[in-house]
Amino acid sequence: MEIIKTYRSRRDQVNFESLGFGEVFSDHMLTMEYKDGRWGSPQIVPYGKIEIYPSICSLHYGQIVFEGLKAFYTQKGAINIFRPEKYHERMNLSCRRLCIPELSLALFMEGLKELITVDKEWAPRKRGYSLYIRPFIFATDSFLGVKVSETYRYMIITSPVGAYYKEGINPVKLITPVEYIRAAKGGLGAAKTPANYAATLLPAEEAKKKGFTQVLWLDGVERKYIEEVGTMNIFFLINEELITPPLEGTILGGVTRDTTIHLAKEWKINVTERRVSIDEVLLASKKGSLAEVFGTGTAAVISPVGEIQYGGERIIINKGRIGSLSQRLYDEITGIQYGERPDNFRWCYLI
Ligand SMILES: Cc1ncc(COP(=O)(O)O)c(C=O)c1O
Repeated sequence: MEIIKTYRSRRDQVNFESLGFGEVFSDHMLTMEYKDGRWGSPQIVPYGKIEIYPSICSLHYGQIVFEGLKAFYTQKGAINIFRPEKYHERMNLSCRRLCIPELSLALFMEGLKELITVDKEWAPRKRGYSLYIRPFIFATDSFLGVKVSETYRYMIITSPVGAYYKEGINPVKLITPVEYIRAAKGGLGAAKTPANYAATLLPAEEAKKKGFTQVLWLDGVERKYIEEVGTMNIFFLINEELITPPLEGTILGGVTRDTTIHLAKEWKINVTERRVSIDEVLLASKKGSLAEVFGTGTAAVISPVGEIQYGGERIIINKGRIGSLSQRLYDEITGIQYGERPDNFRWCYLI
């Protein structure tokens, strides 16, 4: 792989004690072109502006996929990329839905390994902080008709990050929107593609104006079954049953969701992937059997939900405090990520 290093690192200009999320970017980026029916060879170059034609089709029709994973600086000084194979699997799933050429696992891993090795010093040392990794592919044909592009660019950029939510692991407040949906069966819901996020911006802005952290999405047909939250999957602990909505094509198959299911099963918790309606949650709350609600996602890991607003009803969960299962999962997952706890499932890829 060709590596062209920057002659001047920007690392000294960054305050690693107070990082936000996705605000600063490491010194280098990876780039690779697809043309004539195959991927070329990757190159690592200094992070910077890229030149594109204003007519490239991804700018107009959104033929783009992306991923979001993290690397952690472990106690022993290694860098741990958490579950990269699983993110690769999902990226290819998104590629298939968006008619984008897939990437082999070998190419994906090589790119990650080389880029993170070059920018190793950008992985924050502080507990709770990490190096966020953003691989993405966009269509580059310069053509204004709606069709599948014949050329693409794959890139990876990385960003040292702190907490995603300013609340940290404190409970978030959610609202179910009345007039919007995120996805419907047969649509793009299960793909990690910009259109899904664009659709959520306006509802999320309106939710924020009302004092809520995020939107709790209900299904697009009956507006009854819970799907996911903003950029997280969701779990409910009702009567000792840990419930999460099934992957039926409308929600993103979260890697943290999968991690949570594995751990909960290992702990002999009764985990079920099934439909859960907002009415069931309301009823459980009234009966006092709704013990915990939490979101799962790469950015926030585990994010307890303290409150849900649905129509005129307001549900307060666990008196707005973190539940013990949420805390246990957070401690276990971050413990594995930082190399402090045993990696029984072989989730860690060490550099
Ligand atoms: C819409 C959506 N749902 C769920 C998730 C959680 O997925 P993961 O745990 O892989 O980060 C994300 C974040 O990637 C997301 O953007």
